[in-house]
Amino acid sequence: MTSVLDPKEQAAQWWATDIIKMSPGVIQFHGYPIQELIGQLSFTAMIWLMLKGDVPNPEQETLFNAALMAGVDHGPQAPSIAIARMAMSCGVGINNAMASAANVLGDVHGGAGEQCLEFFQRIQQGIEKGLDLDSAIQNELHAFFASGKKYVPGFGHRFHPIDPRSRPLMQLLETAEHAHATTGNYREIALGVEHHIASLKSRPVPMNIDGATAAIYGALGFPAALCRGLFVLSRSVGILTHAWEQNQASTRNKGPMPKGWLWSYTGTPERNLNTPEA
Ligand SMILES: CC(C)(COP(=O)(O)OP(=O)(O)OC[C@H]1O[C@@H](n2cnc3c(N)ncnc32)[C@H](O)[C@@H]1OP(=O)(O)O)[C@@H](O)C(=O)NCCC(=O)NCCS
Repeated sequence: MTSVLDPKEQAAQWWATDIIKMSPGVIQFHGYPIQELIGQLSFTAMIWLMLKGDVPNPEQETLFNAALMAGVDHGPQAPSIAIARMAMSCGVGINNAMASAANVLGDVHGGAGEQCLEFFQRIQQGIEKGLDLDSAIQNELHAFFASGKKYVPGFGHRFHPIDPRSRPLMQLLETAEHAHATTGNYREIALGVEHHIASLKSRPVPMNIDGATAAIYGALGFPAALCRGLFVLSRSVGILTHAWEQNQASTRNKGPMPKGWLWSYTGTPERNLNTPEA
């Protein structure tokens, strides 16, 4: 027999959620009243509570905070930042500028962390099935290159021969590991992959921020798909700041290149509508 819910109960179940309880005078996140959280929980710890349903321990919070902090900005060379600034110069609201920027954080720009953690997780699974670290890494690298892919996500950088963000993040990951605040073998996997790529290539291909944050988010137990969301959250700080700076500037309708610089035209040479072509 099918039970028929009354309309109010149907409405209550429509948006049923584990995240927030709210009624007049009551706001609770995963059971914690907001008035207790205010002043006690940092913004970083709040993100953790929202996503994981409980508060981080101090070592987890320090590590999570560092990963979120390290990726806030990479300057207007990054398409998302340039887009935020161009959008702002068109006279849109700051939310439109931020949304335009966040919308281009896709598989190629901003997605490397998610892809890298998926890669690390396959190696972690190999270890859990009994492989030693080197064999688990070699298997995955072999499968990766054999599939025709050339660039392992999370390694190499267009601008930085050594990404200055990676080593301090990995050191913090090591500290958290020693405090038993992490899970898995993500630090040694990340360092091992870096070592194995270097042995296959003509020059080293050091770990970049996406590789380091992927190792951290994996070690903190976040699923790979959340890596991208966390990167968007982090980069939103830079997006907001650049949009705001642009808002204070007098430039209007700012294009991707300075005035007077033009693109190459690669189409049909000039022709005439009334002259038949030979
Ligand atoms: C960012 C990136 C495009 C920079 O590439 P680049 O420094 O211009 O590298 P090049 O294309 O000149 O390649 C130089 C050599 O390094 C190798 N290499 C560079 N990045 C590599 C990577 N991630 N994995 C494996 N090999 C890599 C190339 O295969 C090439 O080797 P070869 O000389 O034997 O052919 C590239 O490293 C990459 O796509 N990385 C993965 C994506 C990523 O993590 N993006 C986030 C960046 S913060």
